[in-house]
Amino acid sequence: MTMSANKPISANHRTALGALYRGDCLDVLSSLATGSVDLIFADPPFNLGKSYASGMDDDISEARYLTWCKTWIDACVRVLKPGGSFFLYNLPKWNLALGAYLNERLTFRHLIAIEMTYTLPIGGRLYPSHYSLLYYCKGARPNTFTPDRVAMGTCPHCSRELKDYGGYKDKMNPAGINLGDVWKDIPPVRHPKFKRRSDANELSIKLLDRVITMASRPGDLVVDPFGGSGSTYAVAEIKGRRWIGMELGPVDQIIARLDSRNLTIEQGYLDEHRHELNALFPPAVLAARKQRGLWTPGNIPKGNPRRRVEGAEVQQSELILLESAGEYLPKKRIVTKLPKKRIKSRKSA
Ligand SMILES: C[S@@+](CC[C@H](N)C(=O)[O-])C[C@H]1O[C@@H](n2cnc3c(N)ncnc32)[C@H](O)[C@@H]1O
Repeated sequence: MTMSANKPISANHRTALGALYRGDCLDVLSSLATGSVDLIFADPPFNLGKSYASGMDDDISEARYLTWCKTWIDACVRVLKPGGSFFLYNLPKWNLALGAYLNERLTFRHLIAIEMTYTLPIGGRLYPSHYSLLYYCKGARPNTFTPDRVAMGTCPHCSRELKDYGGYKDKMNPAGINLGDVWKDIPPVRHPKFKRRSDANELSIKLLDRVITMASRPGDLVVDPFGGSGSTYAVAEIKGRRWIGMELGPVDQIIARLDSRNLTIEQGYLDEHRHELNALFPPAVLAARKQRGLWTPGNIPKGNPRRRVEGAEVQQSELILLESAGEYLPKKRIVTKLPKKRIKSRKSA
């Protein structure tokens, strides 16, 4: 970590929408006007002893790490507009302490768990399977809150819904399901083909797309104090947000990423991904369901139609993903017994 002495700096790269600075985020943040930023997304080093090209020390005492984080958080809070949004991506352990600090300064909105099941197990501990994303705003409520809606979970094999919405299907919004605070659809960027720099834990552009869509509008100013591979700046460019970027280490890969040919490729990925959002069923699932004669928005059976299965009435069925087999199988069936037939006994006959 570095503690800045507020040296003057000039941008290393500019686009029509943004400016990228190579330097300490404390220097760049101190040069920004108070209350000028609409959205801040921060993904700092996690103090895990990682080797960074900038040569920064990523293995300092817990107390020093937290003091450093609080210094740049203060700088972020100052530059945030009233109604601006602040997102902090970190390990749950650090966000616990930093959330307590933020609670005194901004308004808590959500603690989002981002499922990441590809980490290594740690002996004697539970398997760490999520990162933490804190979401705050400055003042009572955010100026912008336009979350995407997500598709209903369906079985990849038979296209049936994974949860039975019973008699409530007709009350469901055809534009999709409300986004929750557990995000299971953000993939890690692991494959060397997609990794732009080895020393930054590059985040998926799906994550930045979701955050930027939810908490800013085109033309708004987005700041990310820890550039890494430039994921935030690339998504801000694609989505027409102004942005200010900063990175202590080399910035050549970020500049290369902002090249129009690269941005077109990344925009293609995002367009594909956005195709799956804001509808109860993505187009391919919708087509498959129609073909199989399953209900679709606009063609919903009234009430909770009971189906006869195996000689009994099945009121609800729930499907779960059996992870080991990678198969979706019925978990349980709540069987409503058929009314007992009055069987005239021989006695009464
Ligand atoms: C976890 S990475 C960010 C990854 C980024 N979110 C992405 O998707 O590529 C953290 C980055 O912060 C940079 N960094 C560390 N201390 C910094 C500082 N004081 N000012 C600016 N950047 C810093 C590191 O060099 C590293 O590239």
